[in-house]
Amino acid sequence: MIFVDPIVVQEVAPRDGLQIEPTWVPTDDKVRLIDACSDVGFSRIEVSSFVSPKAVPALRDAAEVFARIKRRPGVIYVALVPNLRGADAALQAGADELNMVMSASDSHNQANMGMTGEASFRAFADIARMTAGEARLNGTVATAFGCPFEGVVPPARTVDLVRRYLDLGVGGVTLADTTGMANPLQVRFLVEEVLRLTGPESLTLHFHNSRGLGLANVLAACAAGARRFDSALGGLGGCPFAPGASGNICTEDLVNMAHEMCMATGLDLEALIALSRTLPALLGHDLPGQVMKAGRNCDLHPRPVMA
Ligand code: COA
Ligand code: ZN
Repeated sequence: MIFVDPIVVQEVAPRDGLQIEPTWVPTDDKVRLIDACSDVGFSRIEVSSFVSPKAVPALRDAAEVFARIKRRPGVIYVALVPNLRGADAALQAGADELNMVMSASDSHNQANMGMTGEASFRAFADIARMTAGEARLNGTVATAFGCPFEGVVPPARTVDLVRRYLDLGVGGVTLADTTGMANPLQVRFLVEEVLRLTGPESLTLHFHNSRGLGLANVLAACAAGARRFDSALGGLGGCPFAPGASGNICTEDLVNMAHEMCMATGLDLEALIALSRTLPALLGHDLPGQVMKAGRNCDLHPRPVMA
């Protein structure tokens, strides 16, 4: 299995990772984490979400976080938004891109966003009208590979939602496996189909590792032609409104796999591991990431020093 193209890794720990943490992470610590992500070479960071503070209290300081992070030129700082109000607040806070999220299954959209998928799309149409091509927009289809309430999500449903996002004029689409239900065979087929609509520059895959298939799904998506992935340092993360949701695929595990397979990421793996190793002390618990514990292969077998 040889993949020659570099991959783009978007770091989502500050948003998807922290949204589920039971203990409050102070704004200063969030800002430090995001600044460190800018320093290790990410070109895209999902910083926070502009949602109801009652729904996700852990991210109620989104505007303050955006105001205080250091903007590294060239890095795109993304905000998740559920509705027009969130989009307006995110733009005022200086978000470079708005990530609109709705679920392929209505039961998950109801639990997560308190509305039907159709109502979410009406809100996104309002956002597209308000921004009128002035802001970058990304559209996420959550539960694209399966729903914890409804089970199977028909591929045609996900493809239809991708089409509708593209009709709104979004620059990018994300397929999210919100509760880690996807398998590599399914990923291969669905990603091939969606890539015909989006092309590889405009499709991101967002996998969770709830059932241990996260990196296998990444390789299946690469085989289908995808090359943009979301991941979280240490494998943090999960949706508070989906039973059984657990960590995103782990950034340093993904980057380690990519580098071992000669796929460039533009990221400094050693610095990533060092950063992930600071997280257990910040959050007060262990993390599922594996390379942060095992180290890189070359840490065990250093190259001989040339005379
Ligand atoms: N930012 C901040 N507050 C918002 C908001 C936004 N974008 N949109 C609505 N609110 C406020 C309302 O003013 C209202 O406040 P009040 O109770 O003090 O009057 C409260 O949130 C509820 O809003 P309402 O319009 O009655 O709808 P709801 O209770 O069905 O909530 C959402 C709808 C979308 C705001 C809420 O479900 C939500 O924020 N979901 C996000 C969940 C999430 O982030 N999940 C993980 C990411 S996928
Ligand atoms: Zn997620």
